[in-house]
Amino acid sequence: MKRFSLISILLLLPLILVSCADKQVYMVNIGQHSGEKALHEIEDSHHSYLLSVKKTEEEARASLLYSYKHSINGFAALLSTEEASKLSELEEVVSVSRSHQRKYSLHTTRSWDFIGLQEEEGHQKQHAWKGDDLLSKARYGKDVIVGVLDSGVWPESNSFSDKGMGPIPKSWKGICQTGVAFNSSHCNRKLIGARYYLKSYEANLGPLNTTEDYRSPRDKDGHGTHTASTVGGQRVLNVSAIGGFAHGIATGGAPLVRLAIYKVCWPIPGQSKVDGNTCFAEDMLAAIDDAIGDGVNVLSVSIGTKQPSKYTEDYIAIGALHAAKKNIVVACSAGNQGPAPSTLSNPAPWIITVGASSVDRQFIAPVVLGNGLRIEGQTVTPSKLENKLYPLVYAADVVNPNVSKEALGQCLPGSLSPEKVRGKIVLCMRGLGTRAGKGIEVKMAGGFGFILGNSKANGAELSCDAHVLPASAVTYDDAVRIVDYINSSKNPMATIIPAKTVIGTKPAPFMASFSSRGPNVIDPYILKPDITAPGLNILAAWSEADPPTKLSHQDNRIVKYNIFSGTSMSCPHVSAAAALLKAIHPTWSSAAIRSALMTTAGLTNNMGSPLTDNSGKTATPFAYGSGHLRPTMAADPGLVYDASHTDYLLYLCSTIGSIGKFDPTFKCPKAAPKAINLNYPSLAIPKLNDTITVQRTVTNVGDSKSVYSFTAKPPLGFSIKASPNVLSFDDVGQKKSFTITVKVRREMLSKVDKDEYAFGWYSWADGKHIVRSPMAISLAY
Ligand SMILES: *[C@@H]1O[C@H](CO)[C@@H](O)[C@H](O)[C@H]1NC(C)=O
Ligand SMILES: *[C@@H]1O[C@H](CO)[C@@H](O)[C@H](O)[C@H]1NC(C)=O
Ligand SMILES: *[C@@H]1O[C@H](CO)[C@@H](O)[C@H](O)[C@H]1NC(C)=O
Ligand SMILES: *[C@@H]1O[C@H](CO)[C@@H](O)[C@H](O)[C@H]1NC(C)=O
Ligand SMILES: *[C@@H]1O[C@H](CO)[C@@H](O)[C@H](O)[C@H]1NC(C)=O
Ligand SMILES: *[C@@H]1O[C@H](CO)[C@@H](O)[C@H](O)[C@H]1NC(C)=O
Repeated sequence: MKRFSLISILLLLPLILVSCADKQVYMVNIGQHSGEKALHEIEDSHHSYLLSVKKTEEEARASLLYSYKHSINGFAALLSTEEASKLSELEEVVSVSRSHQRKYSLHTTRSWDFIGLQEEEGHQKQHAWKGDDLLSKARYGKDVIVGVLDSGVWPESNSFSDKGMGPIPKSWKGICQTGVAFNSSHCNRKLIGARYYLKSYEANLGPLNTTEDYRSPRDKDGHGTHTASTVGGQRVLNVSAIGGFAHGIATGGAPLVRLAIYKVCWPIPGQSKVDGNTCFAEDMLAAIDDAIGDGVNVLSVSIGTKQPSKYTEDYIAIGALHAAKKNIVVACSAGNQGPAPSTLSNPAPWIITVGASSVDRQFIAPVVLGNGLRIEGQTVTPSKLENKLYPLVYAADVVNPNVSKEALGQCLPGSLSPEKVRGKIVLCMRGLGTRAGKGIEVKMAGGFGFILGNSKANGAELSCDAHVLPASAVTYDDAVRIVDYINSSKNPMATIIPAKTVIGTKPAPFMASFSSRGPNVIDPYILKPDITAPGLNILAAWSEADPPTKLSHQDNRIVKYNIFSGTSMSCPHVSAAAALLKAIHPTWSSAAIRSALMTTAGLTNNMGSPLTDNSGKTATPFAYGSGHLRPTMAADPGLVYDASHTDYLLYLCSTIGSIGKFDPTFKCPKAAPKAINLNYPSLAIPKLNDTITVQRTVTNVGDSKSVYSFTAKPPLGFSIKASPNVLSFDDVGQKKSFTITVKVRREMLSKVDKDEYAFGWYSWADGKHIVRSPMAISLAY
């Protein structure tokens, strides 16, 4: 008998191993939380579902990754295909689905093309809100809690000091999770919570490589520290960057908010950080689930997919809907896949989707050529050349013989000939490889300085980097001028003048070319992005475990502050503004706060002209949404377009039909209101045939007695009418509905391109407030 069992164990062992390897992460959605269950009862019920398909109690426990308690009623677990299909047959189970691996990542600019460091000289970095009125009215956000889903935090940064901060708000229920190099003493009255999530990551990719990241909330990447300090870093005076190159003030948008860190993004095994990172759906939903339970007021999520993702497969959207139900404002980055159209991610209408634009600040490092020509390059490189001319070469002319044609001029690793480069300034072009990597190649080949020329696609948009040698970045046109000079000169020479911060540059803002664009391919009836905010060359705190260039093998510099670009950087600006509004208007819904931010956004730059793309062409709402963030105006919007949780569920009924993954208990009516009638502060009408009438409702949040009248700038080829076109209010909180009728002007048809959207806006104004909504319309014929 004994012998028999031993054999059977030996036989079973390989079987168990095989079936373990077969198991994959599934998300199981049960239904809506009934509301009265204690948390442990929810977990027990999830466990009992697992027990019904697993052999033992232990196996069931071990297979459960997350039990979701505050968002969906469901769980993530390791299941075999057989177990998954068994579960899906149970009556109460709404859905059982495999997550989409590695779809999500942090929204810095293209990982092949970013980087930077430095500190500006004596200037406050937040140009979005001038003056302290809004900040003091919002008491700097001191009772508001902002959750940040990202790569963790570097808690020692002065930006996270709790100096002068009062007791932690009583509403806070979160924790400070300990782990590698992180314990409870790393949290304080600023950094009130920290957690990390990697169960799905590890189930999918194997154990975390602990030389690549910390198994704790500590940030080894820099990105999470940057975004968290942008939302809510304290004012830090006399911040110094590498080499004492410059100093000034660093501050978050809402400097007294409390921060709760949810680390969900991790390195990709076998790839360097420059190549990217990954954030798993189950891990992110667990973080959002906890954030809801912990009591955050605003969630900042600079994460998304490269391709737009359907609502039912988008766990940021699913989590965010449950957060919005609790009046948590969720701001997400639009993505960095621009400037091509239809590239936008995070398009759900209960999310604030944020594009990226420039600020009126540049780091000018002029390149002076031997013929006296002065070119306005930019950089945040600390090292300096002597004040004299150096020999200048174009990288394509000084390569090793083995370099392929398409890599000529790119300064890829090992491509430059030391004999031809030593002691010279080298012009390298963008296109392949990383920007900072090109500088490293020039330095390794013995070059003294480096000019980084934009490719044609980069145009005039300059990304500032902390290169490892004296450097300056120039526009495409300027790069061509430099090549021309090199070609036409017997003895080309140049020098690079050390960088200086220049404030008040014009035009500003302009749209960053990387910022993802509409139209919204998931639902063309919702205009996205919603808004744009500073995202180009943004200064904020950094992890001391990652060099400013992220090239950890070639760059061993440590910096406390760094310059970075992406919609990842613009999103926390909007989160900060939302936190300040939340402090001023604690009872407003997340839809009301979004509406206030959107309807007060600006459409002009600091030259009084319409916002442009980086090329100088007029930009459209598919780049900037309602316009550029103006938080001070948003504090007093006059009217808001509100929307309830039920409105969103009805919207989902008409858009995707089966809404079980969002709320299985909600009964969709036979005729749900059309998506276009969701009470949104903007309007998108794809393929209009003749006429459409749209409904909207505004809530008065301004003066009790007020009269608003309607004005519109219709898109070319269309007419717009509102009915009524005057709205009178007698009270705060009063709601008024109106319709907007859009009509194709047949006589204009020859002037309208059938495949193109046309843009305009309408607004309600009472002499004190202007409540503006952008619109985008295309023709059906
Ligand atoms: C936390 O870690 C620090 C070192 O980083 C140590 O000095 C401190 O004693 C630890 N605190 C606790 C409560 O363990
Ligand atoms: C972990 O990362 C280090 C450094 O990047 C690398 O050398 C090592 O091979 C990795 N270990 C594993 C198990 O992949
Ligand atoms: C600013 O920082 C520098 C170097 O970190 C230091 O030498 C200087 O005294 C500081 N200045 C002030 C006003 O604190
Ligand atoms: C090209 O040759 C150089 C030395 O001549 C070498 O360092 C480099 O690795 C080579 N590159 C490739 C891609 O073979
Ligand atoms: C510069 O001269 C090289 C030959 O030395 C030629 O191939 C290239 O097209 C010239 N470039 C410009 C911009 O004139
Ligand atoms: C537009 O409407 C007209 C009349 O209402 C109809 O004949 C035509 O087929 C419609 N066109 C499209 C593209 O739907």
